[in-house]
Amino acid sequence: MTPLIDPFARPISYLRVSVTDRCDFRCTYCMAEHMQFLPKKDLLTLEELDRLCSTFIRLGVQKLRITGGEPLVRRDIMTFFRTISRHLDSGALKELTLTTNGSQLAKYAGDLAACGIRRVNVSLDTLDPAKFADITRWGRLPQVLEGIEAAKAAGLRVKINTVALKGFNEAELFDLLDWCAKEDHDLTFIEVMPMGEMGEELRLDQYWPLKDLRARLAERFTLSDLTERTGGPARYVRIEETGQKVGFITPLTHNFCESCNRVRVTCTGELFMCLGQEDMADLRAPLRAAPDDALLEHAIRAAIARKPKGHDFDYSRQKVAGQVSRHMSHTGG
Ligand code: GTP
Ligand code: 5AD
Ligand code: SF4
Repeated sequence: MTPLIDPFARPISYLRVSVTDRCDFRCTYCMAEHMQFLPKKDLLTLEELDRLCSTFIRLGVQKLRITGGEPLVRRDIMTFFRTISRHLDSGALKELTLTTNGSQLAKYAGDLAACGIRRVNVSLDTLDPAKFADITRWGRLPQVLEGIEAAKAAGLRVKINTVALKGFNEAELFDLLDWCAKEDHDLTFIEVMPMGEMGEELRLDQYWPLKDLRARLAERFTLSDLTERTGGPARYVRIEETGQKVGFITPLTHNFCESCNRVRVTCTGELFMCLGQEDMADLRAPLRAAPDDALLEHAIRAAIARKPKGHDFDYSRQKVAGQVSRHMSHTGG
């Protein structure tokens, strides 16, 4: 089996699958308050999602991340996790994981651990209940904290994903850090990307470059760069004084596309070769056209052959460039 290698000699070993475009929150930088969601009939069934993921795994994917929207609001999603975890048992898949807003973790953490999931990434931008309600519009902090607690109790390692937002969580930098140290969670900061419509001025106003955030940390702590990777775009440092690990995802201040190893599939079977580009390939038609996977495999290979070099996101010169029209919830980050 020839592995998936793109035109820039990057092996594709990481698949992110968005299993629903729906979410029980409405984070302001991610979604509009009133979203038009996809009709159910357009969604891939859980069986189709399984076939799709299994095909990618056969083609060399070793890391599978389930995303959304909020993946845990998809009906019967645990059936999918239970079934797909056979690839962990066989050794074909090295990691099965998810990115979640945490709202449903209290309910599912135990089941997820039983399916072979070892760690989860939970999105959390603030520890202040009022601010949390503000930024997520519909979310409630205690529910998420309870979910995170349940994940820990189930033996899952938790990585907190925090979008760095100027004027929003700037003042909480050290509180977030302390809390993660106390709870023994890893913490990764993300630069806000121009996805989905949001006024240019607003986007620029909220952008907090991680270079600045890192400099703030360095005023108080000794940071040592780590070479260890988790297979995603984060680069990590150790904070010597606390021993904790902090990650930085810097699409704007430091482009990491050169080492990109991933592609994304949406809940309707669109394959996006880059988070920051509009080009996509439809996998649903070849998936449904025949019961065997030959057409599907052909479509995947043809798409990987046109994976672009990288995104064009750029905020320099006080302008938003390289914006894509899709919301983050469409491709799941
Ligand atoms: P780990 O397995 O813990 O390394 O996770 P990950 O960083 O691969 O996944 P996660 O879902 O936690 O990703 C965090 C965020 O990083 C995403 O939601 C995106 O905002 C951003 N991100 C991930 N991959 C890419 C990428 O290829 N390009 C860009 N521009 N951003 C990405
Ligand atoms: N820029 C950066 N990160 C974003 N996320 C959602 N929208 C954006 C954006 N515009 C993050 C969420 C979550 C992950 C799925 O993507 O906070 O951590
Ligand atoms: Fe939902 Fe996550 Fe988007 Fe927030 S960032 S609206 S939790 S998909």
